Amino acid sequence: MTNQIADIGLVGLAVMGQNLALNIADHGYTIAVFNRNPDKTREFIAQNEKNEPSKDRVLGYVDLGEFVRSIKRPRKIVLLVKAGEATDATINNLLPHLEAGDIIIDGGNAHWQDTTRREKRLSDLGFHFIGSGVSGGETGARFGPSLMPSGTFEAWQSLEPIWRDIAAKVDADTGKPLEGAEPGKPVKGGIPCTAYIGPNGAGHYVKMVHNGIEYIDMQLICEAYWLMKNLLGMNAGEIGKIFEEWNQGELSSFLIEITGDILQQKDPESDGYLVDKVLDAAGQKGTGLWTAANALTLAIPANAIAEAVYARALSALKEERVAASQLLEGPVIKLESDRATLIEAIRNALYCSKICAYAQGFQLMAEAQIEYNWQLDFGTIAQLWQGGCIIRAGFLRKITEAYNRDPGLQNLMLDPYFMNALHAGQAQWRQAVSLAVANGVSVPAFGSAVAYYDGYRSATLSANLLQAQRDFFGAHTYERTDHPRGKFFHLDWSSAERKQSEV
Ligand code: 6PG
Repeated sequence: MTNQIADIGLVGLAVMGQNLALNIADHGYTIAVFNRNPDKTREFIAQNEKNEPSKDRVLGYVDLGEFVRSIKRPRKIVLLVKAGEATDATINNLLPHLEAGDIIIDGGNAHWQDTTRREKRLSDLGFHFIGSGVSGGETGARFGPSLMPSGTFEAWQSLEPIWRDIAAKVDADTGKPLEGAEPGKPVKGGIPCTAYIGPNGAGHYVKMVHNGIEYIDMQLICEAYWLMKNLLGMNAGEIGKIFEEWNQGELSSFLIEITGDILQQKDPESDGYLVDKVLDAAGQKGTGLWTAANALTLAIPANAIAEAVYARALSALKEERVAASQLLEGPVIKLESDRATLIEAIRNALYCSKICAYAQGFQLMAEAQIEYNWQLDFGTIAQLWQGGCIIRAGFLRKITEAYNRDPGLQNLMLDPYFMNALHAGQAQWRQAVSLAVANGVSVPAFGSAVAYYDGYRSATLSANLLQAQRDFFGAHTYERTDHPRGKFFHLDWSSAERKQSEV
């Protein structure tokens, strides 16, 4: 048995774990790996036998104690196990083998409150715990993910060189992701897509919001596709070409790029396009729901993000929808605008809605940092999302610039760049939403984004009536526009005199 030869350890050899281990090895680190099922470890090591240069840098262990002892102190042990009970079970198994100051890093999609709980438990025991959001799927893990770590700063300093090395990189001048990594040949230079996010669950919180934004980004793209298909009768290949064009402009992003590709994919089993054969019932693992639920808890109007979660839920009621489609009537599609005009209106609807969605995600994080006692750096968060992760986009550089201009920016829509974009695009955005509603095409995310924009820019809203209703049936009181805020009144609605009293 050899002691303390590995720079870092990793537990959990599903694809994400394997790929992250190879990424770490590609950067010159020796990594010890362990899996609950030892056959998986043996298989992985056997597969890696011919891989240069990682073959000598990935060391497989089937005994947990030996695995732990093989790692240099303070030990850094990355967990890539199924988020939830498996994470707690793995931590419990590791604990008897750890020594003071060792660091466990959870790279799973953990709920941030679980991370906060685990961080407290481990720090009480004399260990460190880092919850690190990892985004970018299997390819990201292999060649450069976006990494969102939180925990004690001391633990982060120990992990930082490895995390910076393995993260995706973006060009310092353009903010564009540096592509071209291959096995054994990672990209050199650039700004790494990782940074210390804050204490306890902050990193997994930011990853959760990333996923909430991922949900709405995807839903908005789907609605743009759906309008082109239903209002203009375009086929998937034609729509794919439009996304390809859009990817050259301000909408340029990973999700737009893959959409262009997906839509042009022919069906391997028949004539036509694959997407037309994919069943329209969406799945979800829960991170979008966590974001929407947290927004409700913090009373932040992230309605577009929530709408994206509901849209998946509605899609999943496939059989019900099929039955209802025979019973509930809608309008006959009637269009007066020409194709080019409508495509441009849809592009504006997508762009303006996207600004609203990101404004909601950042506003949610702004509230969370107060509520949970963090100090989040929004410019940096947008920067580390510029490469590696699922929502990576040219757009995020504009967000970093906005927060550099004004670190205390209250809402992204108030930044001059985004404000101009909303002003320039709103007429066409409204045209696209109106046409969708008039013609019975469901676009819940476009609609909720425009409602958010109109609500946020309204000095007055209908909540005056709502407050009066609350006071009527529940004596919940109201404030008055002609008195200072914080003074509350009640009207005695049930009496003949209807007297008002200050409460
Ligand atoms: C990422 C992704 C990744 C994954 C989620 C969402 O950042 O790499 O967000 O975490 O795609 O699991 O999955 P669902 O769509 O199934 O909720």
